[in-house]
Amino acid sequence: MTHPRVRKAVFPIAGLGTRFLPATKAMAKEMLTVLDRPLIQHAVDEAAAAGIEQFIFVTGRGKQAIDDHFDLAFELERTLEARGKTAELGRSRSMVPAPGNIMTVRQQQPQGLGHAVWCARHAVGNEPFVVFLPDDLVVSRTPCIGQLLELYRETGGNVVAVQEVPREHTNRYGVLAVGADDGRIAEVTGLVEKPDPRDAPSTLTIIGRYVLRPEIFPLLADQKPAVGNEIQLTDAMARMIGAMPFHGLRFEGRRFDCGTKLGFLQANLAYGIDDPDVGRELVAFARHELQRKD
Ligand code: G1P
Repeated sequence: MTHPRVRKAVFPIAGLGTRFLPATKAMAKEMLTVLDRPLIQHAVDEAAAAGIEQFIFVTGRGKQAIDDHFDLAFELERTLEARGKTAELGRSRSMVPAPGNIMTVRQQQPQGLGHAVWCARHAVGNEPFVVFLPDDLVVSRTPCIGQLLELYRETGGNVVAVQEVPREHTNRYGVLAVGADDGRIAEVTGLVEKPDPRDAPSTLTIIGRYVLRPEIFPLLADQKPAVGNEIQLTDAMARMIGAMPFHGLRFEGRRFDCGTKLGFLQANLAYGIDDPDVGRELVAFARHELQRKD
């Protein structure tokens, strides 16, 4: 059976980024850079590499820089052209999707991830789509979302990226109850948002990559606020279990939680070490700094 092709990605990016104040006082947290690219561009690049064609940003106030980032920068590019800086010009233009392929919708009030995804319902329409949480940065051989889409092409239904976490961390994540499990692909039989470690049905948790069927939208429309008094995507997804295939994929790759200072610094270090321009010197510097700490 062939399943409908996935063309659209939703990026819920209306969050305030309070953990990074004062850096995020006047700037969207998704514009924080890991190596030379803002977080939102890492996510858009991952989507594009997996064949996604349309990008839907669910934003809030103070996020204009994101729209500008994915637009042409007329004065900058003219100046680069005049100075013969072709490499820089290419880098500036490379992340501009084709006209009409970026859409921005507003989430006027912070009512939770489920509400943010629901705000994209008209832009998505009646077709399957992917959701990216740009705080979760994944370094992998095949783009993480591409791995999920590969499984989706076999199974259809919903697919979420999952990873094992220490039991004491289950209250930070959406957690799976698991049916058939081959060690890579886990059948989802239940979902709980941020359970207390004592109540968590497993230690297999969702990270910010989802393939979702559009049937999620009417469920989100009447989803009651729950954990944190927010409308949770996990709660609406839980109501789809049984009605369609639903799988968690232990993806290949390393995930960095760039919503925390530690994860953000770790991501920068990991990207920096692999960078051909600065990697060697960064490793030498890091070694030196570690000795200083001993
Ligand atoms: C969100 C989701 C949660 C998921 C997590 C992954 O939580 O609600 O189910 O496990 O992202 O990063 P948040 O981090 O926004 O609190």
